[in-house]
Amino acid sequence: MARIAVFASGNGSNFEALAAKFKDDKIHNIVLLICDRKNAYVLERAKNHGVKFEIINYVKNSKKEVEDRILRILKENEVDIIFLAGFMRILSAEFIEKASIPIINIHPSLLPKYKGTEALRRAYESTDDITGISIHYVNKEVDGGELILQKEIIIDRDKGLDFLEKEIHKLEHKWYTKVAKDLCDKLEES
Ligand code: GAR
Repeated sequence: MARIAVFASGNGSNFEALAAKFKDDKIHNIVLLICDRKNAYVLERAKNHGVKFEIINYVKNSKKEVEDRILRILKENEVDIIFLAGFMRILSAEFIEKASIPIINIHPSLLPKYKGTEALRRAYESTDDITGISIHYVNKEVDGGELILQKEIIIDRDKGLDFLEKEIHKLEHKWYTKVAKDLCDKLEES
């Protein structure tokens, strides 16, 4: 059984998709949500799914203190793999090394294009015809780790940014859950 932690900061639709996927899964479990915002809607979702959560205050504490606390929590909960799902904090190289478990992120652009925040809007405001999603391993370079999967979508500017965002989310939910399940299965085999 893979023990999964999800890190999220906001609405948590990707957390919701992952929670639904693993609820039906008899092998792997989401054991923990790490969230850096006390009012984030993702916390309601965690309560609804009975997933334990920890709120981490990045403002009152130093980054090192915060990350050391997360490392302790991961250890206590015997977490095997982390999925970032709209987690808007950058994990330090030290954290990634000390955690020494796979950390995976989903990003709403075709990386290496539009790294960082507001990727979806920046793609929409560009002259690009297509955009998409990227699922990748996390390394010390922000949005720069090894790619696992990308999916493309046509940008239809007649339909607006909100429509594009909805379509991107549909793609994310479909493919992040699939990749997550596959990676957990592989972890189990190794
Ligand atoms: C998702 O679109 C995800 O790709 C993006 O935040 C959104 C979170 O949505 N992540 C990033 O931009 C990371 N750099 P959600 O809270 O509804 O899952």
